Amino acid sequence: MKAAIIGASGYTGADLIRILDSHPDIEISAITSRKYLGKSVWKAHPSMRNLKLRFTEYTKDVDADVIFLALPHTASMEKVPELLETGVKVIDLSADFRLKDVKIWEKTYGAKHTAPNLIEKAVYGLPELHREEIKKADFVSGTGCEATAGILALAPLQGKADKVIIDVKVGGSAAGSTGNAGTHYPARAGNVRPYAPVKHRHQEEIKQETGFEVSMTAHAVDLVRGILATCHIPNFSEDVSKLYRDFYKDSPFIRITPKDPKFLPNPKYVVGSNYCDIGVVTDEEHKRTVVFSAIDNLVKGASGQAIQCMNLMFGLKEETGLEALPLYPA
Ligand SMILES: NC(=O)c1ccc[n+]([C@@H]2O[C@H](COP(=O)([O-])OP(=O)(O)OC[C@H]3O[C@@H](n4cnc5c(N)ncnc54)[C@H](OP(=O)(O)O)[C@@H]3O)[C@@H](O)[C@H]2O)c1
Repeated sequence: MKAAIIGASGYTGADLIRILDSHPDIEISAITSRKYLGKSVWKAHPSMRNLKLRFTEYTKDVDADVIFLALPHTASMEKVPELLETGVKVIDLSADFRLKDVKIWEKTYGAKHTAPNLIEKAVYGLPELHREEIKKADFVSGTGCEATAGILALAPLQGKADKVIIDVKVGGSAAGSTGNAGTHYPARAGNVRPYAPVKHRHQEEIKQETGFEVSMTAHAVDLVRGILATCHIPNFSEDVSKLYRDFYKDSPFIRITPKDPKFLPNPKYVVGSNYCDIGVVTDEEHKRTVVFSAIDNLVKGASGQAIQCMNLMFGLKEETGLEALPLYPA
């Protein structure tokens, strides 16, 4: 099968190329970039010095069975309609088609949605919750990285509890490859800093997918890759370890950890992989449950998950091309 990546010079584009390059069923037929047009892939991604790929210009008639869009939000929705018209399968990593309510999308992202008619068609690309729909889909929306960590941590508790406070710690690559004052080395190195104290955009995705009333606070931490989500559920302290194991028994990328702090979810144990580690601890005395989840934002939070969806859309084994263990130590 042929796969094309639109916006391949950025961080999620790089991880799509890295994983698809060793996928046994995929040939990368095109990678596009405006900035690196005509240049070898390694000019943008020096780690790919041995690859023969070259950046080309975007065209809707690209030769591919599946197209990944790794563009900023609002740039994707300009291209998705004409791509879908060609009959190709599309996986969009941006936020443009994640939220089912266009009014909430427009409020959250502060822009006018230009393809609202396609929102319904987009399947939310989280295989652990939407596996059967993804298998039948022509159009899948990638999920937010912090949203992925939050949703996977909370999904088994749907209907058991309703209110959650999520404290999320995020590595710098989640902000993409274009730097700003907040991602500059002196601001980030050796530091932990709240960057979205309330009203984080991904709250709406978590609410949509879990039904929880979500209040989220996000911190930028001194990591390149990785997310740790700490979900505090007040007035709830049932032992739910078995519930979690049962809920995810058919989900090959979810690993439920022991309660021992030495083994609880930790970005260091998932970096470079498509795994999501989840651990649950209860505080009976204060009636509180804490659920931790850790992912690599560029893999399970973006490109790896998109390829997991592609595998399902094409009837391949869900794990194909994604079975590598995390980098450790990293
Ligand atoms: N980073 C993460 O951890 C993460 C996780 C989940 C989802 N996402 C989502 O994935 C998407 C890509 O994220 P990223 O981190 O890879 O961003 P990035 O590093 O900034 O890359 C985006 C790429 O899109 C291209 N681009 C930018 N504006 C464009 C436009 N108006 N039209 C066409 N191409 C344009 C750029 O390439 P050229 O300038 O070379 O054309 C750039 O390399 C975003 O929507 C993001 O929200 C990111």
